[in-house]
Amino acid sequence: DKANYRHFMAKEIHEQPEVVGHTLARYIDMASERVMLPVKLPFDFKDIQRISITACGTASYAGYVAKYWFERLARIPVELDVASEFRYREAPLRKGDLAIFISQSGETADTLAALRYAKAEGVHTLSVVNVPTSTIARESETVLQTLAGPEIGVASTKAFTCQLMVLASLAVAAGKARGELSDEDETKLVHGLVEIPRLMAAALTLEPQIEKLARDISKSKDVLYLGRGTSYPLALEGALKLKEISYIHAEGYAAGELKHGPIALIDETMPVVVIAPYDRVFEKTVSNMQEVAARGGNIILMTDAKGAAEATVDSLVTIVLPDMASAFTPMVYAVPVQLLAYHTAVVMGTDVDQPRNLAKSVTVE
Ligand code: M6R
Repeated sequence: DKANYRHFMAKEIHEQPEVVGHTLARYIDMASERVMLPVKLPFDFKDIQRISITACGTASYAGYVAKYWFERLARIPVELDVASEFRYREAPLRKGDLAIFISQSGETADTLAALRYAKAEGVHTLSVVNVPTSTIARESETVLQTLAGPEIGVASTKAFTCQLMVLASLAVAAGKARGELSDEDETKLVHGLVEIPRLMAAALTLEPQIEKLARDISKSKDVLYLGRGTSYPLALEGALKLKEISYIHAEGYAAGELKHGPIALIDETMPVVVIAPYDRVFEKTVSNMQEVAARGGNIILMTDAKGAAEATVDSLVTIVLPDMASAFTPMVYAVPVQLLAYHTAVVMGTDVDQPRNLAKSVTVE
């Protein structure tokens, strides 16, 4: 049931600190501060030359974030595809490499077909699924479950952040197995992960500010989302979330791509949501923001206290998230991104949990 919430989506957004915490507890041993996978992997990450990640929609954006993590923490090249492309592309896979599939339902037709293709190619298959009895779970060599609990809202929220938690843990395990991370590095990263539920809860307290902002957004015809590094896939996710439930056209772009085209769209009528935690690419994103401001664009900046102090642009609205020491910002920044889409849809009066033309689980091609 919806508890005291108006929509399942609201309930599911608010459940995130708890369910991400459960997921964390399944993958991290709190006592030793080590990543501890609940299953034994049938391969050694040292032998993996390339990972391919395949999924659809929001799950593919979780995969896109994970690409950055695997490459950075474990130095494994990752190829990412949406399942509908992967399944027909006949991508050459190297026997013994690893293919990861991400799916909340575990029943998405294209993702399942991609899994079957990968199995036939002789690679190890690992799926990150929320429904352990699903077809994708049953047919995968290894299953890592997200403990999001049932997700009812068609727009995926808590499944996404739980997927990120599992993938972050797996990337740390991979880095450790390959000797890219020391014990000390692992402890530091684990500390970062353990902080996430608390930081997500802090992000939820920004709701009144976001609700107010949603009233402005609801008047727009188009919204642009920008991000760099792991905030780039989150920008894609933000745009998807907004369009699927509010029916406002939105696009996510890598901030650095702005001047290669989309900057032509900038005027005072199109809000630009910039996702920019104070990280190693922050300065670069700020310079893209300056380009937007110089063309009269209205900026909504999602950052932390440090970023808010350093951003030398007059932004329309700044949403200040808690400071974070780790590289796992997407789990926390997902919260304002989801809330913005949710409240915009509520203002628009759309059917938030059952948006038109959409099904929760896409079991046909
Ligand atoms: O069940 P799955 O995770 O495989 O579903 C994948 C997509 O259909 C799903 O994430 C879809 O994009 C959502 N409606 C996004 O909110």
